[in-house]
Amino acid sequence: MAEPFVHAVLFLLLAITSLPISMASLHKLRLSASEVAAIEERAPPPPDQPTTFFEVDRPHRPPPGSFGPCSTVLLSHSFAYTYTKPPVTAAYSPPPCLAAAGGHASLISLAVLEWRAACRGVQYDRIFGVWLGGAELLRGCTAEPRRNGIEWSVSKDVTKYTSLLAARNPSTISVYLGNVVDEQYTGVYHANLTLHLYFRHPPQPPHPGLGPADVIVPVSQSLPLNDGLWFQIQNGEDVGSASLAVPTNAYRAVLEVYLSYHAHDEFWYTNTINSHGPFREVTVSIDGDLVGAVWPFPVIYTGGINPLLWRPITGIGSFSLPSYDIEITPFLEKLLDGKAHKFDLSVTNAQDSWLIDANLHLWLDPRGAPTTAGITSYDAPPLDTTTAFRPDGPGTEFYYTTAFRRISATGWVQTPSYGKITATWTQRLSYDNTNEVQDDSQQVVNQTTEAYSGVHVSDRGGIAYSQVAQQSFRLDVFVGVVNEEFNGSYTVARDVRLGFAEERVA
Ligand SMILES: *[C@@H]1O[C@H](CO)[C@@H](O)[C@H](O)[C@H]1NC(C)=O
Ligand SMILES: *[C@@H]1O[C@H](CO)[C@@H](O)[C@H](O)[C@H]1NC(C)=O
Ligand SMILES: *[C@@H]1O[C@H](CO)[C@@H](O)[C@H](O)[C@H]1NC(C)=O
Repeated sequence: MAEPFVHAVLFLLLAITSLPISMASLHKLRLSASEVAAIEERAPPPPDQPTTFFEVDRPHRPPPGSFGPCSTVLLSHSFAYTYTKPPVTAAYSPPPCLAAAGGHASLISLAVLEWRAACRGVQYDRIFGVWLGGAELLRGCTAEPRRNGIEWSVSKDVTKYTSLLAARNPSTISVYLGNVVDEQYTGVYHANLTLHLYFRHPPQPPHPGLGPADVIVPVSQSLPLNDGLWFQIQNGEDVGSASLAVPTNAYRAVLEVYLSYHAHDEFWYTNTINSHGPFREVTVSIDGDLVGAVWPFPVIYTGGINPLLWRPITGIGSFSLPSYDIEITPFLEKLLDGKAHKFDLSVTNAQDSWLIDANLHLWLDPRGAPTTAGITSYDAPPLDTTTAFRPDGPGTEFYYTTAFRRISATGWVQTPSYGKITATWTQRLSYDNTNEVQDDSQQVVNQTTEAYSGVHVSDRGGIAYSQVAQQSFRLDVFVGVVNEEFNGSYTVARDVRLGFAEERVA
């Protein structure tokens, strides 16, 4: 089997920027609109010309032999006062060009969801989510606007959701972007959501368990509601929970987790002991048993730390936040009884608030006859985490936090079509964070997260496939006073280095 190998390294190095702000707001990692405007006065953008913001990303190319795209506007809306209001919705049915091509999900060679938006005036960066039939397709942060206006677009490969895109039952597309417009915060977000489909003929013969899932079941809140479909997690005891039944002919299951963090936990990696320390993880359990963990990449939104750092090139992952996969196949034994089971999402050490939900991707036996499954090994020792604290002279505190976790499970599935399949799921996670706080004058945070996750699947013919991801997330933040003068004037500097490295073998 060919072994496509993907290696991605994104590194953002941002030098010191000086801010004319008061010492009191030194630790405030989110500046007010007036502070941002005051800084921008020094190097104003060209007048009467909107700025295009962008995130560095790989272009999406359809596989050779594809034709298209066929483009369909799914939803168009101006988000003004939408905070705590119901999501904006539109009826969804497969675009006519998909029906004309034969209608089947396997005819889609590439599906791209494009979010294109504009805003003018003063406004915060806002988080938004896009759901189809309750399953999240895109989590994004808006670009924080300027008085002269801004525009940006995100194109996300959504081919893994083709079963939802091609489903014949009428469905609903929902977008929640909680915005507030008043005299001071005037920016309205105008957005268009477009689906681009590329097709292939004839459809590819399926590789069992690979390619887009046959069914996707949301682990989210149901409409109607006055918020996004995500669960809001406000503390370490909160649980986002959904009960769902899995089709009895499933033979592979992967839970895809979406998350973002806000308010008291927007900058969780800078938190001290009084704010639950800097370590956070999302845990996933089924009927109370831990099946996987997500150690998040620290996305910095466009209004974070110093908004001028993110104009026009936005922070890694901020326009399209990463999602994280947990292999559920080894745990199918308890899910194949046709009854509902409880999927729980929690955040260790959480403060208000985290927005979390998930999609359960399921691959079904084509004969429709039930599968049976068993679990042969499972090992999930408790989280191993420590924080060392050292008062480092008057007014100075130094924290060193580490965390380790491993989870592994092996299970088999007996299928009518493919015989007996055995799947092993392994996660090895490690984390360290140093945090040095000097009175009100300085804070230095250095954090590293290493996340290995792998699934190895074998069938009667030997190894069927392996999917391995090794991720390394690095964050260095300096916030502090430099150049203090005798006459009382000083410069506040903010320096951020953010690295996302990922190696995938599939
Ligand atoms: C959205 O689409 C409408 C209609 O085509 C267009 O007038 C508008 O400029 C678009 N908005 C953005 C932000 O692209
Ligand atoms: C920690 O981060 C600061 C700020 O970016 C950087 O100057 C420093 O070199 C980092 N320290 C280590 C040990 O990497
Ligand atoms: C203090 O001194 C600095 C550098 O010499 C100068 O730029 C600044 O304007 C002075 N500030 C005040 C308040 O006098």
